[in-house]
Formats: sequence, C-alpha cells, structure tokens
Amino acid sequence: MNIAVVGTGYVGLIAACCLARSGHQVIAVEKDTDKLGQLKKGVVPIFEVGLDEIFKEAVARDRLNFTGDLKEALGESAAVIVAVGTPSEADGRVDLSQVEKVALATAQHVGQPLTVIMKSTVPPGIGLMLCERYFKKSKAPIRYVSNPEFLREGRAVSDWYNPDRIVIGGDDPEAIAFTAQLYSDIDAPIVTMDVTSAEMAKYASNAFLATKISFINEIANLCEQVGADIDAVANVVGMDKRIGSHFLHAGLGYGGSCFPKDTRGLNYISTFNNYDFKLLKAVIEVNTIQRSLVVGKLLQELGSLDGKKVAVLGLSFKPGTDDIREAPSLDIIARLIDQGAKVSASDPMAIDNARHNFLGADVEFYSDPYTACDGCVAVVLATEWETFLSLDWARIKSIMKPPYIVFDGRNALDKEAMLGYGFNYTGIGRTISTEGSLVRSQADSAS
Ligand code: UGA
Repeated sequence: MNIAVVGTGYVGLIAACCLARSGHQVIAVEKDTDKLGQLKKGVVPIFEVGLDEIFKEAVARDRLNFTGDLKEALGESAAVIVAVGTPSEADGRVDLSQVEKVALATAQHVGQPLTVIMKSTVPPGIGLMLCERYFKKSKAPIRYVSNPEFLREGRAVSDWYNPDRIVIGGDDPEAIAFTAQLYSDIDAPIVTMDVTSAEMAKYASNAFLATKISFINEIANLCEQVGADIDAVANVVGMDKRIGSHFLHAGLGYGGSCFPKDTRGLNYISTFNNYDFKLLKAVIEVNTIQRSLVVGKLLQELGSLDGKKVAVLGLSFKPGTDDIREAPSLDIIARLIDQGAKVSASDPMAIDNARHNFLGADVEFYSDPYTACDGCVAVVLATEWETFLSLDWARIKSIMKPPYIVFDGRNALDKEAMLGYGFNYTGIGRTISTEGSLVRSQADSAS
C-alpha cells in the first residue's frame, strides 16, 4: 500500500519505518529543511533503540522516501498518517495549528480517494471538527479515522510490534477495516469505537499513568513523614493485580513530551467543557512540586547553596533517550542556579540538547560523570541511566567534598551500599523506620 506519513518526529518516523519494514511503500513528509536534508542523507535525527537499523533497511530497499512537499506525497497514496506536533500553549490549550495546516493542504490537494489516519494526539471532538471544516469539502472523498499511539520513547520500535491494543476510531467500517490492515502482521487486539472516544481514550490513558506516578510520589512523601519505606510499600501495592506494579516508581515525577502536555491539555479541555477535573489538577500540581523538593532538601542540609558545587547526573527526561523536553533536570538546574550554586551536569546522550537551555548560565557539562562530580558537595541523580547506577561510587566519594550528599531523585541506587560508602544519602520516601510511626505519632497527639 502507498502511504504518506506527515511529520517525522518520534511517532511519525517510527510509523514510517515500521510500515516500510512491513512491506508498504512509504513517503514521509518533513517541513524542517535541515531535518529533511539529514533524512535524505540517511541520517536518523533522533535516538531511538532499534530505529537506525530499520530505517537503513527501509531506505536501502527503496520502501521509504522523504519529501518536503505534502502535495507530492499525496500523489498515489491511499492513506495519509498525520503525526505532527500538538504542543501545549501557555494556558494548557493544545496548539492545533500544525494539524489544521495538514488537514487544509490535504483537502486542497488530494486527487484520489484517501483515508486520513490521525496519530497526533488531538482533543476529543477535534476529529469531527476536522471532517466538517476540511475533509467534507475536499476535491476527492476522504475517510477519517483516529488511531492514537501508545509508544514509549526508548522502546517505541518494540512497542509498535507489541502493543497492548490497537485503537481505531471511526464511523466508516471500511475505513476501520482498511486501517486495521496496516497492522495485519501485529498480534494485538484491535479495538474499534467512534472517533471522539478514541481521542478520549488516548488522553485518559496518559492521564491515568500520570495519576499513578503522582499518587505514588505523594505516598513516598508521606512515607518520609511517618518513617515508612516507599520501596516496601509500592511493592505491596503493586502486587495487587487490580492495581498492577507499573508506574508506581516514586521519584522526581514525570517529564517528557507527552504526560505534561497531555495532562495540561485534558485539564484545559475539562475547563472548556465546564467540568472541574479536580483529581487531574492535583496530579499536575503534585508533579510540579515534586521537582522542587530536591533543592529544598539541599538547602536544609547545606544552609545555603551560594558558590557550592552541585553535580546533576542525568539530563534526559528518562533513560534511553536524548529527549530533554520537560525533563525534571532542567527545572532542578534552574533552581540550583537561582540559589547561586555552581552546577556541573552529565548525561550519556542529552548534553548537546541541554546545553542550549543554559547558554550563559553557570552550568558546565561533562560527558564523564566523574569529572562532573569532582569537587562537589552534593550529587543529584536526576535520570536513572544504567551507566550512573554502575559508577564506582567509592571513587566518587573520594573526589567529592563534605558533607558528601547524594540525592537519589529516582530511588535507583542501592541505599545500603550508598550509606556504606559514607554518603549522606537521601532518596524519595526511602526511609528506614528507626523510631516513630504514624500510629505512635497519632497516639502522641491523642495523649
Ligand atoms: C508516554 C506513555 O507511556 C506512552 O504510552 C505514550 O504513547 C506516550 O507517553 C505518548 O503519549 O506519546 P513516554 O513519554 O515515552 O511515554 O514515557 P514513559 O516511559 O511513560 O515515562 C514518562 C515519565 O514518567 C518519565 O519522566 C518517567 O521517568 C516517569 N515515570 C514513569 C515515573 O516517574 N515513575 C514511573 O513509575 C514511571
């Protein structure tokens, strides 16, 4: 099948490469001329595990081509997959300008019957609006389906082939069956529904995962107050099959290009529809506060951060990616700078991306984590890259300065080992109850 994919970000490029690998003839459209140039030269502009190989294979077999011209891509295509950005505006609303531009150009230039498959995350109701405003007025008939993606960065290729479900929303059974064919080599349930429900399902999924994270972070913060240990607590909670153990890892909170944007977007949609989504507002607020806790704890320990050297290990929003969008590390570094600290940061992949955010600021970037930690009074682990977990921590202790603080923002280091090295180690809710308990403190207040 001839398929056009519009947008070569994380979603579009994965879709284009995987569909080409499945035997389709794919033409991907990219409006950014630098990126387009790279793609045409055979350079993958993002890091994603396994992507390079399937990209090269698809290009070598001439199944994947690139253009900057949507009209050219529409040429013989039977389907166009829309995978352009839907970023947040300042008030949380979803910026649909790129989606609308593609919809307008598609309606104007299509010369043959076409199925539009929406993979960009758009608010519930937008698919129907696009049909009314653009696709019903097109030169040739256009069928529309919503086909949200559930790919995780760092595992997107594997997620493409092993999804928990494939969601196709539409009101035309033929368009749904046609879209399902694209996934005929994938063993997963195909769930069909109307367009608006499919759009809502995407937001609900991301909002629920974000809720799990903020919930466990609140429990972790409370663990610190009552002298309980979050690792033990989360383990027990996750063993209940009705809850599940995923996304119960306490830490600095969620970042990335999806959860922050989609939670804010859903909150905006709720307000717009006169619904006060109290739980979602709390999820967002908890996540914002969670990032600031580390600086508060450092101030408690050190009194002032003025002129003190602090190392931040990890810049990407999670391991396995060079993506720094909405990464907790960026907020933490900005707060440390505000407090007068001298920051030295390290990351295996994201330094080039992060550098632009701190031009002229008192931050130094080192690919070698040992150099970053040299002379520091405190180390903050912001991203749980494997390379940081397996550092020679005895060596780090020997090059740091007292009081040897390690703030483990991802609860990823071996707590006992870190205490054994003599670090002043703090995680998030990783307390060992030596004295006191909630029962005790309640009893105290009652007496
Ligand atoms: C997320 C969803 O997991 C995907 O299903 C979805 O398709 C994607 O958004 C999207 O909407 O495009 P992603 O942003 O790649 O994928 O990252 P996740 O692996 O979900 O992690 C998100 C954030 O949550 C990270 O900052 C991670 O560190 C944090 N997290 C995750 C926790 O703090 N605790 C956890 O237990 C799990």
